[in-house]
Amino acid sequence: MPPRNNVRTGTLLMLSVVLVACAPKPEPEPMPETTGAASFRTYCAVCHGSGADGAGQLSVFVPTGVPDLRGLSSGNGGTFPDTYVVEVVTRISDFHAGVVAMPDFGPLLDGEPVVYTASDGTRIETNGAVLEIVDYLRLIQN
Ligand code: HEC
Repeated sequence: MPPRNNVRTGTLLMLSVVLVACAPKPEPEPMPETTGAASFRTYCAVCHGSGADGAGQLSVFVPTGVPDLRGLSSGNGGTFPDTYVVEVVTRISDFHAGVVAMPDFGPLLDGEPVVYTASDGTRIETNGAVLEIVDYLRLIQN
């Protein structure tokens, strides 16, 4: 082979090595970042902790302590208490009324109304952003 062709073959070989190296890896990806997870960090993590374990920065200022939200299902016989959680988050300001330094939940609660039908048949008027946080909480239960 003339030297020119050797150079071309070499370039092609290198190109395929680069392509193989860039191909997506077959390993499982970590849990995708959801809108609910991001909203939780914005509105809730300051007290409940970024992992919902109850250890957020403000928790030390809440004399009664901040609950670990990963135990909602285990505290309810292993079933995620969706009626309760949707109601609490929909009426988040009322529910947390006695708690110091509540952030402004406005943007979370301003969305288009949606009717959620809970597992026990209860129908609750809420909105999509609330349901995304509830779905996030459902995913991270112990
Ligand atoms: C300023 C601190 C603070 C912020 C911010 C906060 N919480 Fe709470 N949360 C608390 C405290 C304290 C309690 C316990 C209140 C009680 O039992 O009366 C609580 C209770 C709860 C409960 C009931 C837990 C149970 O075991 O019954 C849920 C669900 C909850 N919060 C969800 C949220 C969500 C979702 C957000 C964000 C949209 C949020 N909280 C933001 C402090 C906070």
